[in-house]
Amino acid sequence: MTNPTFKVTLSSNPKPDAEREAILEAPVFGANLTDHMVVCVWQKDQGWTSAEVVPYGPIMMDPSAAVLHYGQEIFEGIKAYRHQDGSIHTFRPADNARRLQLSARRMALPELPTEMFIESLRQLIAVDGKWVPQPVNEKTLYIRPFEIAAENFLGVRSAHRAEYRVIASPVGPYFTGGLKPISIWLALGSARAGKGGTGEAKTGGNYAASLMAQNEGYEQGCSQVLFLDPETETYIEELGGMNVFFVFKDGRVVTPDLDGTILRGITRDSLCQLIRDRGLELEERRIAIDEVKAGLESGEIVEMFACGTAAVITPIGEFKSKNGNIGNPNAEPGELTVSLRKELTGIQYGTVEDRHNWMFKLSD
Ligand code: PLP
Ligand code: COI
Repeated sequence: MTNPTFKVTLSSNPKPDAEREAILEAPVFGANLTDHMVVCVWQKDQGWTSAEVVPYGPIMMDPSAAVLHYGQEIFEGIKAYRHQDGSIHTFRPADNARRLQLSARRMALPELPTEMFIESLRQLIAVDGKWVPQPVNEKTLYIRPFEIAAENFLGVRSAHRAEYRVIASPVGPYFTGGLKPISIWLALGSARAGKGGTGEAKTGGNYAASLMAQNEGYEQGCSQVLFLDPETETYIEELGGMNVFFVFKDGRVVTPDLDGTILRGITRDSLCQLIRDRGLELEERRIAIDEVKAGLESGEIVEMFACGTAAVITPIGEFKSKNGNIGNPNAEPGELTVSLRKELTGIQYGTVEDRHNWMFKLSD
């Protein structure tokens, strides 16, 4: 079956230019949405039957819709960057499309073809391109594609009707402290994902499962939470919404390997490549929290950072837990952390050569 072509219905009530410009001056992550959204419908035995761009607005949903009861929901996060010449680009969209397919498989939702995913971004930018901020102060348009089980039926089985939607929100830095190192709360006794579970899928339930520990962390002055392996609470997995890296004094860089319980971060993968490009040794392996503690104490570990589409690259100062604190909350951002952040954002904003063909033009 061929993919449906997009039908476009423009909003009769878009935000006035002055209001939009005021929002773009200092956008707050996720607080304002653009004028339009994408809606594609899938039905069992028919496949993807429609694809539309429509005015942004509430979703009419029956209270028995499957997603409201059994959490069959997946999502992506990807950004649109304006370059100096006004053109709009995104970063590795085929990789986000593939990860959405992986998540769909795990959560028994239909897989959206890669071309339809990329076309949905292009279509949204075609009508809402003016919502992509000027390339200053790390401003971008954060795009949130998501898929939900949209069948009205209370039986427990995978839904026979699903919707793929795309919304977008202009954003500034996720952490408002800029390059100031963040404090992270260790989620002891509170697992996010186990072997064979849904940790590798980008599904809402994983985030719901992280919030209790995140609230504990907020109370301790931490802005994110770190999960350890749930069986032994020994090895580092990832943060609630980011992957992590550790830089050693001898130049080695270590990040937890993809063991099926953590998200295959696209920023993580890109940084692994950029680190190898620099001739540094990159180890994807298990790393114990005790190794990090010992490494920080002995001076073996000299930098730690978190990464993700929303967070870009953010230095980590310390890990806090009910068993004590590790690291230094006032640590200066590390040299490699700052330099990788400069390189990656430079590629994304078109000021550093895109050696790996990661950028994809959405609009001239
Ligand atoms: N880990 C989790 C749990 C996330 O939510 C994210 C963000 O999407 C990441 C890691 C980083 O992934 P990416 O770099 O693809 O945004
Ligand atoms: C992203 O980086 O896209 C995420 O989904 C993570 C979340 C902290 C917003």
